[in-house]
Amino acid sequence: ASSPPFSLLVNGERHCLDVPHEAPLLYVLRNDLGLNGPKYGCGLGQCGACTVLMDDKCARSCVIPAGGAAGRAITTLEGLGTRTHPHFVQQAFIERQAAQCGYCLNGMIMATVGLLQKNPHPTDSEIIDALAHNLCRCGTHIEILEAVHRAVE
Ligand code: FES
Repeated sequence: ASSPPFSLLVNGERHCLDVPHEAPLLYVLRNDLGLNGPKYGCGLGQCGACTVLMDDKCARSCVIPAGGAAGRAITTLEGLGTRTHPHFVQQAFIERQAAQCGYCLNGMIMATVGLLQKNPHPTDSEIIDALAHNLCRCGTHIEILEAVHRAVE
C-alpha cells in the first residue's frame, strides 16, 4: 500500500508530498523540491555532503526517511542566503576561498551554521570536532577552518 501524503516545512515553505514515507529526505529535497544544496556523497550517513538543519540541529538527510521529517523545520543551503545576499557563513567561505572541488562545501557550511547557532564563539578544537565527520577529499581543512573563524568575526 502506498503511504498517505504528508507535508514538509522546508526553508519556511510548506510542501505537500505524495511520496513514500521511507524515501530518503535527501532524494525528496533534490528530486521533488528541486533543492540541490544538499549533495549526495555516500548515501550512508558518513560523509556529511547531504547535511541539512532540522530544528536547528545538523542532520544527514540521506539516512532520514522523509516521513520522519514531517513536523520539523528543515533548512537547506538554499534557505540560508542568496547569490546577491549570502548568509554570513557563506560570505566567509567565499572570502577565504575555502573551496577546492567544492563538493563537501555545502555540508560544511550547514554544519558550521549548526555549530555557530549553539556556540557562536567556538575554539579551534570545537570547530574541528564539529566538522570532523564532514569529509573533504581535497584536504582544504586549513582554509575551511579559516573560513569558520572569519564567520565568527
Ligand atoms: Fe549523506 Fe554522505 S550523502 S552522509
